[in-house]
Amino acid sequence: MFRIIQIAVLSVLITLLIPSCSKEENVSIKDLNFNSNWLFLKDSINGETAILNDDTWRKLDLPHDWAIEGSFSNEHNARTGGLPVTGTAWYRKHFTIDEQYKHKIVSVEFDGAMNNAKVWLNGNYIGERPYGYIGFEFNLTPFLKFGQDNVLSVQLSPKDLSARWYPGAGIYRNVRLKINEPTHVPQWGTYITTPVVTKQKAEVHIETKILNSQNKPASILLETSILNSSGTVVSTSEKLITINKKTSHKSKTIATVENPELWDLKTPNLYTAVNKISIDGIIVDEYETTFGIRTIRVTKEDGFTLNGKNIKFQGVCLHHDQGPLGAAINYRAKQRQLQIMKSMGVNALRTSHNPPSPEILKVCDELGIVVIVEAFDEWKLGKVENGYHLYFDKWHEKDLRDMIKRDRNHPSVIMWSIGNEILEQSKKDGWKITKELNDICHDEDPTRPTTVGFNYFPAPFKNNLANYVDVVGMNYWPEEYSNILRDHPDMIVYGSETSSMTSSRGVYHLPIDYDEKHETNHVSSYDVIVGPPWAYAPDIEFDALEKEPRALGEFIWTGFDYLGEPTPYGGRDNSTNGYWNDDWPSRSAYFAPVDLCGFPKDRYYLYQSQWTTEPMVHVLPHWNWEGQEGKNIPVIAYTNCEEVELFVNGKSYGKKIKGKDLTEIPSEYHGFKKGMYKSKYRLSWNVPYQPGSLKVVAYKNGKAITSKEIKTAGTPTNIKLVTDRENINANGVDLAYVTVRVEDKDGNLCPNADTLITFNVDGEGSLAAVGNGDQTSMASFQATNRKAFNGLCLAILKSSKKEGKITISATANGLKSDELKISSKK
Ligand code: GAL
Repeated sequence: MFRIIQIAVLSVLITLLIPSCSKEENVSIKDLNFNSNWLFLKDSINGETAILNDDTWRKLDLPHDWAIEGSFSNEHNARTGGLPVTGTAWYRKHFTIDEQYKHKIVSVEFDGAMNNAKVWLNGNYIGERPYGYIGFEFNLTPFLKFGQDNVLSVQLSPKDLSARWYPGAGIYRNVRLKINEPTHVPQWGTYITTPVVTKQKAEVHIETKILNSQNKPASILLETSILNSSGTVVSTSEKLITINKKTSHKSKTIATVENPELWDLKTPNLYTAVNKISIDGIIVDEYETTFGIRTIRVTKEDGFTLNGKNIKFQGVCLHHDQGPLGAAINYRAKQRQLQIMKSMGVNALRTSHNPPSPEILKVCDELGIVVIVEAFDEWKLGKVENGYHLYFDKWHEKDLRDMIKRDRNHPSVIMWSIGNEILEQSKKDGWKITKELNDICHDEDPTRPTTVGFNYFPAPFKNNLANYVDVVGMNYWPEEYSNILRDHPDMIVYGSETSSMTSSRGVYHLPIDYDEKHETNHVSSYDVIVGPPWAYAPDIEFDALEKEPRALGEFIWTGFDYLGEPTPYGGRDNSTNGYWNDDWPSRSAYFAPVDLCGFPKDRYYLYQSQWTTEPMVHVLPHWNWEGQEGKNIPVIAYTNCEEVELFVNGKSYGKKIKGKDLTEIPSEYHGFKKGMYKSKYRLSWNVPYQPGSLKVVAYKNGKAITSKEIKTAGTPTNIKLVTDRENINANGVDLAYVTVRVEDKDGNLCPNADTLITFNVDGEGSLAAVGNGDQTSMASFQATNRKAFNGLCLAILKSSKKEGKITISATANGLKSDELKISSKK
């Protein structure tokens, strides 16, 4: 929902003077990017004062996350990533707005600031917003000095013990300046629904809020057009409206779109509604809203349906960080994360445990991923000393309403989650807040169901909380889905959080000993070792969902490894002292099938084997077991085909049939149910190690259909750079992700290589960050070198605003270097 024109004067020369920005002329885009040229100081001073010498402050562009700049230390809380996420910091921005705008309304919009934001303009306090994940807007007009220097000061003061994961720190989302005519569509001013959809036509209901802040009534013409994804106008309508002085009006338009192109997972078609407001023939505002035409329903008979078709959630929970880039929002980083998720078979996302950035929802709209938008991790009862519970009473209603108003036009959004594992579950009157929040959601958006992620059982059922949401999410209770549905026949249930298994990419501890603790602080990728006491292998969830098809599906914890919560190394059982640093050095989560850099772990393929249909087969472990010649090595295959045959150096070790040949894994979860579970989702062999080739061939209907081969790698000789994109946008924010492989002379990945690689970047771009996915590495993400972790590391390049080539070279002692060129164009 982005505004494109908000000013009246036709082809007037509009001059917005922002020092250090060039003069812009004929500006028609009025959602002015307000990210450039901020000043930053991390100090507890009185940074709000208008007259203050800030010449020496650091100059930077937003979005900015000061904590990711480091450095890691066990002085900081390992639970929040061992990074400096706390303290007081100031951001200041000087700007000038031409006098000709004196009669306009000027406001500033933040998509989120972490956290406890307090804002002043020219020394005048204009407002605050404690919750770091919510967007907010302030009207600057009353204190603005037109034609002169203005200074906007933002104080942030994130406290220690205020998060259970890495929150980032700073103005980490986008900021915009808006210059509106007194009569305009205000922030989040449209609400679009598509209640009637057939093959032939769709009814599009558009509610538009128009604010008339003038001291006289306004007679306006509201013209609404709908454009399809190719920009063709497919519907138009107009209305004459009179709005009283100093008041707002909600106009309802019902438009018809013939032969609608539906928003669906495979064809995420989008439309744009353009609202134009004119007074006396002059356009005073033009407001664009992206939406989709689709129907969603959740019923106990048909489960979740999108456009009438049942869809099972193959979902992931994701925290908001972008690995080595930290929390500073970047559209391409989000797009890549969700593309990787999609390639694993993901069709659903839960924005755990907070309102997402607008960019995440845009990406999900574009990729065809349905989303549960979650509001809170705490209500009145706190999980961490300085968590949201401190602000709940004063802010929860506004935060929740604003979240829904902002996000309700996204076709990808299908449910509102009012909380995660809220401690009120155990309280007799916990249902009261549940009801209140549920009612707020329905009031703002009656078209979507509400949900919550419960982790206690059976408390929320006994205490009635579960009766006050539309869909019951259960965290880590797959064995109870059927019992819940038996005891509460009207309820609808799904796994809002599942598995929480842990692993480190490319690490295999032999023999498999089912012991979670290892002196390296790594967890084996055999994926038999579990995690926290509530964790269990993905196989157990697959099984439960097959046995209980009425459950709507699952959201695994998590899709990507994230910063903070390094369970099981730290954060395991000793939360009592507040700091979870007992197993330092570990600073990021082990939970996901994909590491912090986006490199798949073996578990990625286990999910792929269950969630995708394009024939695939995967084999583990690596095949470099020097010194173990002749000893038996457990070999595991994941496939979505019927049978897999294993070959070592061309010799067959037999075919295994999926569903018939089972693999034993531990079944421990919730600290009880100890024992072994026989998984039909893994095929396994024990084969004597001999160097050479390990190959799996997958069969369907008796025919070999796909295969994968791993070869024993020789000594590392080469660096190989592989980019995810050869052409990027010269906009100063686009990224190229360059995978760095340490290879032998034949191009085999050296699976144990930990070589230090040094980078040099030239041309129209820079090195934005480096990483390697090792949860125990304390090396800075902003260094110019990085050790490989099990053969791989990552360099992230960022474009500048100038077109040209970006060249990255990678060198290491004893290895042949590599170089890569990326084109950056407007
Ligand atoms: C859940 C919680 C998540 C995460 C996870 C780790 O109980 O909701 O935020 O902490 O455990 O297993």
